Amino acid sequence: MKIAITGKGGVGKTTLAGTLARFLADRNFKVLAIDADPDANLASAIGAPKELIDQLKPISEMKDLIAERTGVQPGTYGGMFILNPKVDDIPEKFSIEYKGVKFMLLGTFQSAGSGCFCPENALLKALLRHLFVARNEVVIVDMEAGLEHLGRGTTGYVNKFIVVVEPGLRSFQTARQIKELANELLIKDVWVVGNKIQNENDKELIKKELADFKILGFMPYDPLIIESDKVGKSAYDMSESLRLALEEIWKNMQS
Ligand SMILES: Nc1ncnc2c1ncn2[C@@H]1O[C@H](COP(=O)(O)OP(=O)(O)OP(=O)(O)O)[C@@H](O)[C@H]1O
Ligand SMILES: [Mg+2]
Repeated sequence: MKIAITGKGGVGKTTLAGTLARFLADRNFKVLAIDADPDANLASAIGAPKELIDQLKPISEMKDLIAERTGVQPGTYGGMFILNPKVDDIPEKFSIEYKGVKFMLLGTFQSAGSGCFCPENALLKALLRHLFVARNEVVIVDMEAGLEHLGRGTTGYVNKFIVVVEPGLRSFQTARQIKELANELLIKDVWVVGNKIQNENDKELIKKELADFKILGFMPYDPLIIESDKVGKSAYDMSESLRLALEEIWKNMQS
């Protein structure tokens, strides 16, 4: 299963990506979590300690690696470079592991403005193809907020989108736009998770407004989730109600 977690800014994408990764690793799945948000914070949502996180640098910024594998210095546009660079050793070399979750910091694709044929994108694309096609894992990608980047390549090998929404019309609007984009990208499964739920009315609002989506479940509003961020822990380890919600979400992902 290759899942991209998307949605409006601040709705809880990283919280879901990090805690779902931990939940599945606890159930003995091989889990690879990928941070594709330039404002990266997925590693801490998984609960990895700072010393471990500090070892990582975004793949897209590894100039020597990009040059070695593609034959061209990053920042070069046009010209000849290896389109299918060797990448199969990258996940082991440039990832950290915490509580059974393997974690990689992807960095961002160069903007596709001019159909960018640059070595950075060539390496990232080859890497994603390898991660999503060749490896037998649950892959969870934490995406940047919004829509603009969605077609850029990060989602090229994903087969499911989870759109996180909160009880609020703006996040529903983003969900609808993401669904349209997903259709264009030929991604069939576009699922919704409602977050920051305070009462039954919040659930009903989401069900009513997003009636044409499959809703996987609802994560409660829980001050312990905010607290976890303050103390540098994963909400998975702190919020019992969140763990219960993840069980429901996972059950519905499989049915
Ligand atoms: N269910 C919840 N209850 C309480 N607080 C929550 C809940 N879910 C997320 N939060 C808090 O909301 C904030 C945003 O969450 P998070 O970083 O997961 O969102 P995001 O969608 O990844 O944001 P961004 O768009 O900036 O990447 C964090 O402070 C987080 O602790
Ligand atoms: Mg985030």
